[in-house]
Amino acid sequence: MAGRERAARPAPAGHRRVRYPAAGTRWNGYGAGVSCPHFDHHEFLGDEDRYARYEELRACPVSRSEASGGFWVLSRYDDVLAAAEDWRTYSSAEGVLLPAPAGRRARQVALEQDPPEHTVYRQLYAELLSRQRVRAIEESIRATAAACLQRLASLEQGDFVEQVAAPVPIETLALLLGLDADVTARLRELTLTELSHVNRPDGAAPRPAFTLMDLLRAELEARRENPRDDFVTLLSRQDLPPVGMLSFLVGTVIAGHETTLSAATNLAYQLGREAALQERLAAEPALIPRAIAESLRHRSPVQNFVRTLTRDVDLGGQTMAAGDKVMLLFGAANRDPDQYADPDRFDAERYVDDRDAGRHLAYGWGVHRCVGAFLAETELRILTEELLRYELILRGEPRFVPVTFGAFLAIEELPVTLRPRS
Ligand code: HEM
Repeated sequence: MAGRERAARPAPAGHRRVRYPAAGTRWNGYGAGVSCPHFDHHEFLGDEDRYARYEELRACPVSRSEASGGFWVLSRYDDVLAAAEDWRTYSSAEGVLLPAPAGRRARQVALEQDPPEHTVYRQLYAELLSRQRVRAIEESIRATAAACLQRLASLEQGDFVEQVAAPVPIETLALLLGLDADVTARLRELTLTELSHVNRPDGAAPRPAFTLMDLLRAELEARRENPRDDFVTLLSRQDLPPVGMLSFLVGTVIAGHETTLSAATNLAYQLGREAALQERLAAEPALIPRAIAESLRHRSPVQNFVRTLTRDVDLGGQTMAAGDKVMLLFGAANRDPDQYADPDRFDAERYVDDRDAGRHLAYGWGVHRCVGAFLAETELRILTEELLRYELILRGEPRFVPVTFGAFLAIEELPVTLRPRS
């Protein structure tokens, strides 16, 4: 693999390295007759078409797209993993969305930084999202999940997204940060407004009068004047620029909300499709973490993020130049048949153990690997345990929607009926 540094970290358990043919022999280094398909992450593909396109991309693993100013696409597990590990070459500091959100003045802390700037904010996130803090609120997460499910079960039919998948992550984040109920009540609406604003590639949408930023800035200011025993107060006391503190809070709410919502809905959809899976998990709850991991692999909430090359890289017979944008297509890597046999099949029992289940790239890998993964998995596990008290019946097909910049994938609405399990 010419021109690419390998990080010293061990490969994830169960991971198989794929050998490349000699570089420079062909356009893309892959067998005769392979041509690269057109790819534009803003072109919204249906659930089936998306994965068919990814299969074509993996056959031509270093492909070029001229969309959004031009970028390279890495779609094989091995390549995405290696690029995610190698932050010195594949930098996040020029942004991870393509094109950059219109009107954005500052990069998102941690997510859009490289070490050493990244490290300060990463440590702060690690503190907010520590296992200890998350474990301390487990019972509250369970109470919220149970109440949401009970409300949904009282309806003849209801939307799983609105009733359950949206409120649970929002309430959880608010609890971790120390936000009051009136502030929490506005988070979802303002997050959606923020996402719909940045989602416009033309950037023409006028900024709303009151934004998520305004709400969170007011919280920081209030804590400076009237400190409390909560995380926003702790944050307000850090020796950090105000813009960095605000970015930290916005990042927490956006990164911790839509992703978890999407993961919860995807798993509920799969349970709705497979009554046998519901039975199996209800009978053997120890399998729930693997079902969650399989759902994250199978329909990854974050389909891609972008890096900028800090030097020339030769890969698969292709030379990518310093300054070029490279898309890490997590959603395609997670369906790579060289790593997962019959990858389009949902199979919670394909893993040797929980560690093997955790090697998917839905949380990324390397220094940027999702710092909220333990929180997300705790929420998803508790939610699934509570959900399995009911039989979930689908009442229609879900609508998959692109949420932000072709990077996030979510289900907008999932009509279901819940019946108490006898
Ligand atoms: C199932 C749910 C989730 C998924 C699929 C997910 C996915 C991801 C991915 C793919 C990255 C890597 C970004 C990169 O490599 O550029 C990431 C980073 C991050 N996630 Fe998550 N995430 C989830 C839940 C959460 C939660 C609950 C939080 C809590 C606030 C969170 C906060 C973050 C933050 C702050 C980063 C940036 C980390 C860094 O750059 O060091 N995420 N997430």
